[in-house]
Amino acid sequence: MAAVLSVSSLHKRYGATAALSGVTLEVGEAELVGLLGPNGAGKSTLTGTVTVCGAPAGSDTARRSIGYLAELFRFPGWCTADEVLVLHQRLAGSSGGDAERRELLELVGLGREARRRVDTMSKGMQQRLGIAQALIGSPKLLLLDEPTSALDPAGRRTVRELLEELRRRGTSVLLNTHLLSEVEHVCDRVLILDRGAIVAAGAPAELTRARGVQVELASGTRVFDGAAREDVPRIVSDLVAAGEQVYSVQLLRSTLEERYLEVVA
Ligand SMILES: Nc1ncnc2c1ncn2[C@@H]1O[C@H](COP(=O)(O)OP(=O)(O)O)[C@@H](O)[C@H]1O
Ligand SMILES: [Mg+2]
Repeated sequence: MAAVLSVSSLHKRYGATAALSGVTLEVGEAELVGLLGPNGAGKSTLTGTVTVCGAPAGSDTARRSIGYLAELFRFPGWCTADEVLVLHQRLAGSSGGDAERRELLELVGLGREARRRVDTMSKGMQQRLGIAQALIGSPKLLLLDEPTSALDPAGRRTVRELLEELRRRGTSVLLNTHLLSEVEHVCDRVLILDRGAIVAAGAPAELTRARGVQVELASGTRVFDGAAREDVPRIVSDLVAAGEQVYSVQLLRSTLEERYLEVVA
């Protein structure tokens, strides 16, 4: 898999603070990677310091390949949604015109709000407008710094579907958020950053370990701690042989949240 974003042994200091101390990571083509970590872990620092599509960070090629939504962005209140996108089309040198703006507003669920002024929008709508802004010029790589923090459940669903659509189109995404269940559902891979270093990495299914098997019997519920999927046939046949009636069997996994709290000091 070709790396669209490649970060190797990245260090970043702010005076005495070591914000990043040797972070190495890759985001492949059409891969959706979630970046987790407590406040101050270095997530925002990382999403601003990158090497892209083989080109050095800061070069025109790298910049043209990136769409970015900052954690604390602010659009002018007097602009309409459409005007914000026109401005960013000019900044990005996009020739997409009306059609691009219409498509992007539609994509983030603001299709009917093109003429609405930013200062009359909820924070959630502004965040979705921010995502549309980041998608101008069809970037290969999208960096989203807490893009769903202000969104209500419906808005989050819209963004989740949008991320899935982007993956289908081949866009790579590095997403940082505190909404662990969301990351668990939508990301191909998850990185957990703590105090400037990656402390856990893997697919959500790898990070959420098997925790046991729960069986519902006529006599009540029983949990077989540490048992895995391979153990289920034996557990059920032993129970049946012992005269029990089995109503349901469930594999228990630790959630991403539990794993996160384990690895983050
Ligand atoms: N411009 C800055 N000047 C000084 N320290 C900073 C600056 N930006 C971030 N830091 C520090 O670097 C560390 C990582 O910050 P940040 O990347 O914003 O973390 P996160 O996004 O994970 O909350 C923190 O200790 C933060 O206080
Ligand atoms: Mg941050």
